[in-house]
Amino acid sequence: MEIINGDESKELLEAQAHVWKYTFNYITSMSLKCAVQLGIPDIIYNHGKPITLSELVKALSIPQIRSPYVYRLMRMLVHSGFFAIGKNHEHPDEEGYMLTPSSRLLLKNQASNLSPFLLMITDPVIVTSSHFMSTLFQGIGSLPVEVAHGMSIWDYFLKHPEFNKSFNDAMACDAQFVMSIVIQDCKTLFKGSKSLLDIGGGTGTAAKAISEAFPNLKCMVFDLPHVVSNLKDSENIEFVAGDMFESIPSADIILLKL
Ligand SMILES: C[S@@+](CC[C@H](N)C(=O)[O-])C[C@H]1O[C@@H](n2cnc3c(N)ncnc32)[C@H](O)[C@@H]1O
Repeated sequence: MEIINGDESKELLEAQAHVWKYTFNYITSMSLKCAVQLGIPDIIYNHGKPITLSELVKALSIPQIRSPYVYRLMRMLVHSGFFAIGKNHEHPDEEGYMLTPSSRLLLKNQASNLSPFLLMITDPVIVTSSHFMSTLFQGIGSLPVEVAHGMSIWDYFLKHPEFNKSFNDAMACDAQFVMSIVIQDCKTLFKGSKSLLDIGGGTGTAAKAISEAFPNLKCMVFDLPHVVSNLKDSENIEFVAGDMFESIPSADIILLKL
């Protein structure tokens, strides 16, 4: 066995901790997904003050015997910044869980609700593809998603309307959130132009936000037929089905988001 000195062992243990941190990283994503599936952010929000572990377990309607697991889940998510610890004055001896700015973005009935994005990205359909990343470099010639599902992701969505909906909802919640900031901070980009083409614009959430802020702008949402062909045009928004690798309509502004 190799003899190592104190400095070397500290460095080695830090290196091992680093390996472990990234080995177990997915547990954080899955814990967050679990918390959202259980509705924990909404329970804390509706409670109106820091919620103790026993109050949380009761609100979750799960047996008290599961309490240690809820404790571990919350400990993980406090550590990763999704919940914070506060004082519950009715139970001064117990800690209470509070929301943080990040978990406020996961509340179901708020305008900025990013949970559809979280749930879509952590869905097995997406996660399975990432198990095949190494095939990209092994000369098989297929993308990981093609190895996982036997088709491109867009064909997968075409064949699985329920996942297509989850994907479009996820994109829409991101667009809703980001566009409010883009419109606020990048007004000059849109002023003075007459037409905008949102390529791969999904179900039109970004275009809708832009057209509400700039009513003189005619917007076209260009996407694959299975995404837009059933969507109705409105006064300032036209949905156009097509393949961007073949041809696109012309416009003053071309938007490519995500
Ligand atoms: C990652 S999503 C982004 C959606 C939207 N821009 C947003 O940010 O919310 C990519 C979009 O591109 C569309 N797309 C993929 N391939 C396309 C193609 N060849 N032609 C047109 N749209 C395509 C998909 O259907 C999907 O709506």
